[in-house]
Amino acid sequence: MPAYTADQLHWKAVAHKVAEEVVRPQAKKYDELQQYPWEIKDAMAKAGLMSVWIPKEYGGSGGGVGSLCVVIEELSRACGGVGVAYAVNALGSFPILLGGTEEQKQKWLPLIAKGEKLIAFGLSEKFAGSDAGGMRTHGRLDGDHYVINGEKKWCTNGGCADIFSVFCVTDPESKAKRISALLVEKGTPGFTLQKQEDKMGIRCVPVNEIHFKECRVPVANLLGGKPGHGFKHAMQTLDYARPGVAAQAMGLACGALELSQVYAQKRQQFGVPISSHQAVGFMLADMATKVEAARLLVMEAARLVDARAEGITKLSAMCKLYATDVAMEVTTNAVQIFGGYGYMKDYPIEKYMRDAKITQIYEGTNQIQRMVVARNLVKETTELDFLQKWIPTEVQRGGIEPVAVIAKA
Ligand code: CAA
Repeated sequence: MPAYTADQLHWKAVAHKVAEEVVRPQAKKYDELQQYPWEIKDAMAKAGLMSVWIPKEYGGSGGGVGSLCVVIEELSRACGGVGVAYAVNALGSFPILLGGTEEQKQKWLPLIAKGEKLIAFGLSEKFAGSDAGGMRTHGRLDGDHYVINGEKKWCTNGGCADIFSVFCVTDPESKAKRISALLVEKGTPGFTLQKQEDKMGIRCVPVNEIHFKECRVPVANLLGGKPGHGFKHAMQTLDYARPGVAAQAMGLACGALELSQVYAQKRQQFGVPISSHQAVGFMLADMATKVEAARLLVMEAARLVDARAEGITKLSAMCKLYATDVAMEVTTNAVQIFGGYGYMKDYPIEKYMRDAKITQIYEGTNQIQRMVVARNLVKETTELDFLQKWIPTEVQRGGIEPVAVIAKA
């Protein structure tokens, strides 16, 4: 167990109560209906959960990413769909927190903290998923408005959000300052909600395409008031948000593990509980070890994000990739432990496995996370120059043999 702060323990208890009283009993219903759980959102807002990650000066509770992760874990233990329906508001609001003007922060964040407005994040497109910088949605400056044309794909919360952080190309000629972020309100003429996806998991949260046709957004909604900073704001946002996806994954893994523990203790085969068969006992031991390791990594990443420490990009990617791979492994093994019962929709365990899969994909596939980690390792290698003398001399020279040596041979 990580060394939680008093604030984190407080939010853990509040979120646990909401999860057990409101979320778990209704998880199956909303999964089947594939409908946004408004009553659960109201219960979360009433308990103050929507304010957790927002600083006090903007109407929040100032719990930061650490408390946010604790809440996401508790909710996801009961339902992974509710976990992301909650977490995606942090993803949508981080661009404002990280890059917004004081006026933009004062205008939008208190409404989000109260749960009066939901927010979504519009980055991915049909032809620009992993290659986020390859987006085509365009924002043209026209007087005191930007005119947006294009479409965004896989917008989580799309069908229920009031505000959208939308990334678009405002300077196609520039390499470094090509992209800007605009805050778009639902109901703006030219903005439409399109295809609602029919998903394998996280079914209670609507994921939509959002389309823009000559959609006019006031210049005042340009994030940070200056164009060209959108890509950096998107990347920084993902650094802040990925521990939340990791927490969702870890909550799913933990929820599936807990159900498996109970099942394996009660289920008798060959005259004893199956947990006393080494084959199952060792599975449970590995599952529990990996959940705990994931939790420690997530909370350490969150701590460093809150401390605005150097190098958070790498740790944020690491915790996302590790916890989500663990979630897939643990939830799959949980279905295995439940055997025939595990495969049936009568019981919640199969839903954990379905909900877990997306965590390896969204907010950057785990292949992208590995790429981010690998790139950072290359950067850090210059600090290890002092170790060079311990590697083969010819390798130190970059594999190029001096001409004299070749001539002699
Ligand atoms: N923080 C600050 N700046 C950063 C940064 C970071 N973490 N990462 C990159 N940058 C900067 C670089 O320093 C560079 O700046 P300069 O030009 O000034 O040097 C610039 O951004 C470009 O960086 P790269 O050359 O590294 O960019 P790239 O095109 O090679 O892409 C990438 C990098 C990491 C692959 C990035 O494209 C990426 O993260 N892709 C995945 C996108 C993603 O996660 N999408 C999911 C969206 S959300 C979602 O899933 C839906 C939902 O609703 C939940």
